[in-house]
Amino acid sequence: MKLRIAPSIISADFARLADQVAAVESGGADRIHVDVMDGRFVPNLTIGIPIVQALKQIATIPLDVHMMIIEPEKHIEAFAKAGSDMLSVHVEASPNLHNTLTLIKELGAKAGVALNPSTPVSALKPVAHLVDFIVVMSVNPGFSGQAFIPSSTAKVLETRELLNSVGSHASIEIDGGIGEQNAAEVTNAGAEILVAASAIFSADDPAKATKRLREAALLDAPTLYR
Ligand code: DX5
Ligand code: ZN
Repeated sequence: MKLRIAPSIISADFARLADQVAAVESGGADRIHVDVMDGRFVPNLTIGIPIVQALKQIATIPLDVHMMIIEPEKHIEAFAKAGSDMLSVHVEASPNLHNTLTLIKELGAKAGVALNPSTPVSALKPVAHLVDFIVVMSVNPGFSGQAFIPSSTAKVLETRELLNSVGSHASIEIDGGIGEQNAAEVTNAGAEILVAASAIFSADDPAKATKRLREAALLDAPTLYR
């Protein structure tokens, strides 16, 4: 297992996006997390394909695109071609998950499934053998800056158990309310990819905040990740 820090640009200064990406990269970020929202699956509207294309020109680390949209299958090809290295769709928004995940893989991206806080881990069972990563949502998706839902840590453990039971080595990503205060707790439970928007981009120095988040995550987890 390897810890990966994935700053979410949803809280970045969009007028200085290239600088902000360079800052978190200099702080050791491993992925750029891109929150795509459609105003329907979630109440907020954010960004789409042109921004992914622009990020692809400037980022030196993989783009992790989190699709919080209905009918994601209609847009997967465009997002993949725009430069998404990882694409996650919500189980609640994807009635034909097998096809959707297969399509993502055929397009050369890593395929992920995201679960809202109220969706049980068992919803993953039918596709657990197909996924490259799982996104455990630790807030209800839609906005950055929300409080971490404490039961999410147990959900990470349960997800890891389910993956182990089918012999899957898929990574677990956790998204929402992650910061220095809970980073060690979720990594100890088995999360490998930590997404953080406000904890990084609302800090005075996003590079330092990225570095601090990694240090906090590894504080109690030396054997698991080294
Ligand atoms: C939630 C998004 C997140 C989120 C993270 O809807 O998927 O990626 O904005 O924001 P923080 O880290 O501020 O909770
Ligand atoms: Zn996200």
